Amino acid sequence: MSDSKPLTLSEWFHQETKYDRRTINLLPRPDFDGQPMPWKQWHSRHPVDLVPYLPFEDFPLGPAEDQEPLDPRSLGDEVRAISRTLFFTCGATGFQQTPEGTQIFRAAPSAGALYPTEVMVVLREIEGLKDGLYAYSVPHHQLVLLYEGVEMEEVAAACWDDPAFEDAKMCVVLTGLWQRSRWRYHDRAYRRILLDTGHVLGNLVHAAGHEGYQAKIRTRFIDSRLQSLLFLDDAEEGVLALVPLVPWQSAGIEVRDEEPLSLKASTGSPLTNPPAEDPIVALQRAGELLENSSSQALAMKPALAVQQQNEFALQGTMADLSGEFCSISVQRRSTRQFTGAPIEVSDLGRILDFSHRFLRASSTQLLGAGPLLDVHCITQRVKGIDSGHWLYCCEKHRLILRKAGDHRRSLQEYCLGQDLAGDAAAAVIYSAPLTEAVRLLGDRVYRDLHLDSGFLGHQINLGSMRLNTGVSGIAGFFDDSLGKFLGLPEGHIVTYITLIGDPMPSG
Ligand SMILES: Cc1cc2nc3c(=O)[nH]c(=O)nc-3n(C[C@H](O)[C@H](O)[C@H](O)COP(=O)(O)O)c2cc1C
Repeated sequence: MSDSKPLTLSEWFHQETKYDRRTINLLPRPDFDGQPMPWKQWHSRHPVDLVPYLPFEDFPLGPAEDQEPLDPRSLGDEVRAISRTLFFTCGATGFQQTPEGTQIFRAAPSAGALYPTEVMVVLREIEGLKDGLYAYSVPHHQLVLLYEGVEMEEVAAACWDDPAFEDAKMCVVLTGLWQRSRWRYHDRAYRRILLDTGHVLGNLVHAAGHEGYQAKIRTRFIDSRLQSLLFLDDAEEGVLALVPLVPWQSAGIEVRDEEPLSLKASTGSPLTNPPAEDPIVALQRAGELLENSSSQALAMKPALAVQQQNEFALQGTMADLSGEFCSISVQRRSTRQFTGAPIEVSDLGRILDFSHRFLRASSTQLLGAGPLLDVHCITQRVKGIDSGHWLYCCEKHRLILRKAGDHRRSLQEYCLGQDLAGDAAAAVIYSAPLTEAVRLLGDRVYRDLHLDSGFLGHQINLGSMRLNTGVSGIAGFFDDSLGKFLGLPEGHIVTYITLIGDPMPSG
């Protein structure tokens, strides 16, 4: 650690988990024999079978032979909404036979297909079901009752009695399982777990909306209360998001009427020594919010300087997915190879517009630290606009040039040499002023910056799929080289990259 400038835990963690050309090969090889299961194995003799509520019939894995699911006729109408919301958010949408067994792909993408985000739901007053905490079994598309004693009121209390819970009969709980990703990605796994969870949230708002519910994402809560309420060991697993689902008619639209936005802050004390404990657990703990955590106004201005003289006004817009969300969610797959052919600038405009509605000042309050993110766009092969590094201004739907030129090979190199990056038509990259953000909001902001980047990256996935454009997230990159290329000042970090391009037809 530097003597002159003590780092906060977030800064230290980020520094320690950077990929660098000189050291990446020194990382231990993953132990493929030690790979954890990508889901928890829950079993109940009487599960809630969610398969009959799907809008199609051929779901491969129904109830096991020794199971007698609860009679659907005895269950309330909301079970259909739960079934579809969970399926189109993170259900098993792809089954592939491999020498090791069946690999299941899901509605939301996941770095390395490791799926470290675990899903539970808290239910209350659903006809035929006991109030309590249920686990979502992905392979069987079932709910399994875990604890009857977990009540919605207690979950709300861990959110400072947030009124969002008042009309909610269902609350989705997303947790991160550290080892499920860490066995492969070491401590950098934490970043990917947060990004992955952001993707799941990115589906959830659409899936719930499709069923007539507003997904009120809450990523700020009193961590220790929830961990003990849900019987979680924070050395293994941490709650990352709570999402009460509120019927649209009683939900009201949450707009950012507070100016500036105000967020609960954790501490962000400078480190004197590196943490003795597991760095992921240490950072998750450092970001904990307490009963009496205070709120801070989020009044930071866009951080990066731009030359106003070279702006490009984008024309294409996309207000919604035109009812295509469910089919996109089922058919979606990350692109493995781009052809290298260009895309149209109008399509790039549509994708950027659709994805960054959530960042606009007038939008719903879904993102914790979204306003802190800078949105970079590298145009590599986009018809109608010069190649270069641009900043995207979502309020004006404009690109503002930072550096003209063909950056294909550089981007490929920064993305660990992945061909996908060199062959992409464009890349959207998020960066954030970490040092300043932690000074303002404490270490909790590290979670927000990555969750929000994953959420936005997921919107890019959905918007691209809507236009039959190829897309893939990229969480592996040489941090400092990429930051330097983007002209990031000291204290700024890159959080996530999403590539867009012409997909190579599969098979
Ligand atoms: C956070 C995140 C990071 C990813 N990073 C990469 C990457 O660096 N390279 C790559 O080819 N795919 C990457 N992917 C795509 C995953 O490999 C893909 O989601 C996973 O294999 C599951 O396949 P599917 O998205 O087609 O369902 C990433 C996905 C996510 C969500």
